[in-house]
Amino acid sequence: QKELKTELRFRGKKVLVTAGPTHEAIDPVRFIGNHSSGKMGYAIAHVLQDMGAEVTLISGPSYEQVPNGVKLIKITSAQELLDACLENFDNTDITVMSAAVADYRPKVIADQKIKKKSDSLSIELEKTRDILKTLGTRKTDKQILIGFALETQNEIENAEGKLVSKNLDFIVLNSLQDQGAGFAGDQNKITIINRTGEHYHFELKAKVDVAKDIANHILSIL
Ligand code: CTP
Ligand code: CA
Repeated sequence: QKELKTELRFRGKKVLVTAGPTHEAIDPVRFIGNHSSGKMGYAIAHVLQDMGAEVTLISGPSYEQVPNGVKLIKITSAQELLDACLENFDNTDITVMSAAVADYRPKVIADQKIKKKSDSLSIELEKTRDILKTLGTRKTDKQILIGFALETQNEIENAEGKLVSKNLDFIVLNSLQDQGAGFAGDQNKITIINRTGEHYHFELKAKVDVAKDIANHILSIL
């Protein structure tokens, strides 16, 4: 009985998780993408679902298996991700933005496959909307909003900047310093940074265990 209670600590909570990369079309057969596997977001969706939450997962292209009971919304581009987030956000208690969203997309998508002609080719890019920042401006006091940060320099300082500018409750800093950590691997090394300035450093561990650490941190601020 007691175990059941601790296991279902997210019962009644509506959770939105985003995961995976976005693909930004160049022409009908090409895109600009990134190396995100979706593993971290899928693990978070899985763990929160296991702990009793009602989870909607919005995912870019990923080979990960959708956890049982999780509602999946598939997207391709940053624009589609933004639309899906806006459609679902107001109705959620907790949102975890782990998708690797493209910062730029081709300004024009060619109607036809681009043929090779000259020795070089430039493609003009335009900025995408910052989805997390957009959600941060819509967020009510009752909603919890969590972001990720990937930095290669001034990690803590840059992550703190994102925490504030995007109006997050906490940010999960992904450290690329260790072997095996980051985008495509099975492990991550994270630091959780709070609104109150506390930093929680975690060891390099399997993404499913990182997801449990994140879930426990959410419980501590619920
Ligand atoms: N993010 C987003 N919409 C974007 C870009 C990023 O919602 N167009 C979210 C990511 O999902 C992540 C957080 O913002 O949760 C931080 O992403 P990151 O790439 O680390 O930071 P950026 O704000 O994009 O800044 P930069 O890439 O210049 O470091
Ligand atoms: Ca970015």
